Amino acid sequence: MNGWRAGIILAFAVLALALFSNSCSTLPRTVVAPPEIPGAHFAGNRACFECHTNYVRRFAASPHARVHVAGAAMPGQSGCESCHGPGSKHIEAGGGRGKFIVNPGRDATACFQCHLQTHAEFNLPQHHPVLEKKMNCVQCHDPHGADILKPAGGLAMARLNQSCAQCHREQTKPFVFEHEALREGCAVCHNPHGSINKAMLVERDNNLCLKCHAQQQGSLAGANGIYIGRENHTDKLKLGGCWSAGCHTAVHGSNFSPHQLY
Ligand code: HEC
Ligand code: HEC
Ligand code: HEC
Ligand code: HEC
Ligand code: HEC
Ligand code: HEC
Ligand code: HEC
Repeated sequence: MNGWRAGIILAFAVLALALFSNSCSTLPRTVVAPPEIPGAHFAGNRACFECHTNYVRRFAASPHARVHVAGAAMPGQSGCESCHGPGSKHIEAGGGRGKFIVNPGRDATACFQCHLQTHAEFNLPQHHPVLEKKMNCVQCHDPHGADILKPAGGLAMARLNQSCAQCHREQTKPFVFEHEALREGCAVCHNPHGSINKAMLVERDNNLCLKCHAQQQGSLAGANGIYIGRENHTDKLKLGGCWSAGCHTAVHGSNFSPHQLY
């Protein structure tokens, strides 16, 4: 192993260490490394600027712009190359498609080198078909822009659900009686990468709904029982799940029922 590579791997170890303390991070406790391109070395973000000006300009606000390798033996920042691999041979060749550069739009392997947890989620029984190459990360994430949670080139409106709306019109159309839960984004109920539960739900049973709708023992109009909202649910809960028993079947909203019954 030559000097610069040892340096990079060491620097990524330091990066990984620094991220341990961040419990929100999906980075695993292993040394992460950007994709490799045989014979190429890191050139730094500035080297991409000349030909890919707009990408470099927008990139400053991306969370990945912070993924630079402090103290590594390379000029400038290494943000672009953390996903695209070291760029020197691409630059020497004058650039071009398929020329000594990784394009993770076609293959998410580069992303999984750092996001092991995400990789694991896509391997769960219910998942979006990314590993099957029928979909890719970019349909939901903008790797270069300020807002990584929206699709590349997407609008900023209704940011949380907008990437889903491209493909799931039925659930994202406007409803007369909307379910306010959707304002917090589809991900309050679905894990968009994958889940062990049907329809990628984050919970398989009533707990999905009860995290927002408290179930209380009480009495109203003289009737004692288990209340959800202002409604006595004592007998209803015996029928089964909130949506699967044929009650609140219109969980995404309804044009007919204010109680999302149909
Ligand atoms: C988080 C990983 C990631 C980082 C960091 C990143 N890119 Fe990308 N890049 C991608 C992905 C994914 C695609 C594929 C996009 C698509 O297919 O729409 C891509 C595509 C591209 C393309 C090809 C676009 C096309 O027309 O197909 C260029 C050029 C590019 N990136 C340059 C850069 C530059 C320059 C930087 C640094 C300023 C950078 N990228 C940083 C992930 C990344
Ligand atoms: C000398 C100009 C030049 C420089 C410097 C350059 N590129 Fe490129 N690059 C190109 C050209 C030209 C293309 C082809 C674009 C096209 O066909 O639309 C390209 C394509 C790409 C692609 C798409 C590859 C594919 O197979 O789809 C990526 C990713 C990319 N460049 C990343 C980078 C990164 C990262 C850097 C900095 C390390 C960089 N480029 C520096 C000229 C350059
Ligand atoms: C070299 C390692 C590395 C690679 C490769 C990489 N990432 Fe990341 N990614 C990170 C780090 C580190 C963060 C956290 C940045 C921060 O919060 O400061 C991050 C953050 C993210 C976030 C935002 C997480 C949040 O909570 O806001 C998304 C989404 C993401 N990456 C997607 C991708 C995608 C898609 C790819 C491939 C196109 C990719 N990443 C490739 C290291 C990487
Ligand atoms: C179907 C849309 C979709 C696809 C495809 C997708 N993501 Fe995500 N991803 C999301 C959403 C939505 C969130 C925010 C989840 C939340 O708010 O809890 C997210 C969050 C993330 C995060 C932050 C940590 C987390 O899990 O909350 C990372 C990292 C990430 N995605 C990486 C990726 C990578 C890498 C790929 C491709 C292999 C990918 N995503 C494909 C929708 C998607
Ligand atoms: C690029 C298109 C695309 C985008 C964007 C997309 N999906 Fe999907 N989604 C699909 C496809 C295709 C399937 C079907 C997968 C299968 O049948 O294997 C699917 C399946 C699902 C399912 C399971 C449906 C079932 O009947 O089991 C849910 C839930 C879902 N998506 C939610 C979301 C959410 C939430 C988002 C946004 C974070 C999102 N999707 C973004 C294409 C997309
Ligand atoms: C309040 C929780 C909740 C929210 C928020 C939510 N969903 Fe769902 N979603 C469900 C439940 C429950 C099912 C039904 C699963 C079943 O049939 O067992 C479902 C099913 C689906 C399905 C499968 C087809 C269908 O309608 O049964 C898709 C696709 C879907 N949701 C997409 C979305 C999208 C896109 C969003 C955001 C706009 C979203 N969901 C927000 C709870 C939710
Ligand atoms: C993220 C929080 C959240 C989750 C999760 C959630 N809801 Fe809601 N829901 C709300 C809010 C906020 C309202 C509007 C205020 C209210 O009526 O309590 C609402 C309203 C409703 C209503 C209309 C109330 C009425 O007057 O009849 C029904 C029915 C409902 N939700 C059912 C469900 C079901 C079924 C689930 C599980 C699939 C669920 N909710 C999950 C937040 C949530």
